Amino acid sequence: MARLLVVGGAGFIGSHTCISLLNLNHKIIVYDNFSNSSPRALERAKNLSNIKNITADIFSLKKGDIRDEIYLNSVFEEYISKKEPIEAVIHFAGLKSVQESFIKPNHYWDVNVNGTINLIKAMQKHNCKVMVFSSSATIYGYPDKVPIPELATINPLNPYGNTKATIENFLSDIAGCSNTKLIKATSNNGWKIARLRYFNPVGAHQSGLIGEDPKGMPNNLFPYINQVAIGKIKSLQIFGDNWPTHDGTGVRDYIHVMDLAEGHCAALENLFLEKPQLLTLNLGTGKGTSVIQVLKAFEKITDKKIPYEIVSRRNGDSAIAIADVTMAKKIINWKPKKGLEDMCRDSWRWQISNPSGY
Ligand code: NAD
Ligand code: UD1
Repeated sequence: MARLLVVGGAGFIGSHTCISLLNLNHKIIVYDNFSNSSPRALERAKNLSNIKNITADIFSLKKGDIRDEIYLNSVFEEYISKKEPIEAVIHFAGLKSVQESFIKPNHYWDVNVNGTINLIKAMQKHNCKVMVFSSSATIYGYPDKVPIPELATINPLNPYGNTKATIENFLSDIAGCSNTKLIKATSNNGWKIARLRYFNPVGAHQSGLIGEDPKGMPNNLFPYINQVAIGKIKSLQIFGDNWPTHDGTGVRDYIHVMDLAEGHCAALENLFLEKPQLLTLNLGTGKGTSVIQVLKAFEKITDKKIPYEIVSRRNGDSAIAIADVTMAKKIINWKPKKGLEDMCRDSWRWQISNPSGY
């Protein structure tokens, strides 16, 4: 059991991870500015954990921006004065839309990169040296090898990906591991950092009470299909059926958000137990699924015909992105349990129970 700061913890992946962390008896402080989330997600996450009578000591909320140095420092100081210093940070906070990052590159660099520098500075100042960071498979760009191993070339294709790759480099500098090309590199300055590269997180908590709540028109496949199935959008546009894949549509490694949440717990435990290190892991299932296969699975779960049209390829898309997950299994002993049907069923349950989101 540890005292954790969960930065960006009200968001899609953060809110699900809070449940898993509470179930492990961690005490959590969520720090979020709610720029892309709702406090309702946290109220619900709290009720979904196995812990009864959650007090403010076990779960509390700080509304703030990671770029607000004064407020961020005050949160670390508050818990030092309570003699229960923050022992680790799980860092989900950031902006994540590829399309938007082309329009507002300044804003993406400011929130993602400056925000992370600020957070690391606050951690350093208060002697908190354990961080789990949300990175993304987007940093691999067009992969030269599939399944993609962690040591594949890093070649981001958009401003969002550039910010993630830059933060990864920054974190390796902080851990004193800049020149090592290792998945598990020793840090000689006391830092314990995990850089987790998520593939395609989808689905929702099995209760249907929390899930992904995109603002405006969704960009990603799962939220988009959900909105077609519920009748908010007329038809799914499939971005190309001439990719070099088994059915011509793009293939991705979709991972259930609750499996991803468990992956964070496993990575955190590994950091606590092991010597100072910089750990870099893919979190995916290692299985590829095409757009058509997702569509068919949705039709089965919803018992609805989902209209679609084939349109031209989307800028920046690649044919296939599948994780090599050998290392996550070997090092943190984690492997996803849920399959495509669970992902579709749970995201649909969330969609029909909350047609307008939170
Ligand atoms: P999300 O937008 O749902 O969650 C991010 C949270 O961070 C939100 O609650 C938002 O309000 C908060 N936030 C944003 N800027 C902030 C700031 N300046 N200060 C404080 N809080 C701030 O996104 P998510 O899907 O839960 O993703 C979490 C992390 O994982 C992000 O860093 C994202 O880049 C990364 N990631 C996500 C995916 C994905 O497909 N969802 C894939 C790969 C990586
Ligand atoms: C996208 C981002 C990626 C980001 C991830 C999570 C791009 C190029 N990539 O990944 O950087 O980390 O989201 O936020 O934007 N598809 C359709 N129709 C749709 C939506 C998607 O056919 O309306 C297809 C895509 O072409 C792709 C697959 O579905 O083959 C998955 O797309 P998506 O859910 O957007 O994820 P990624 O493209 O993998």
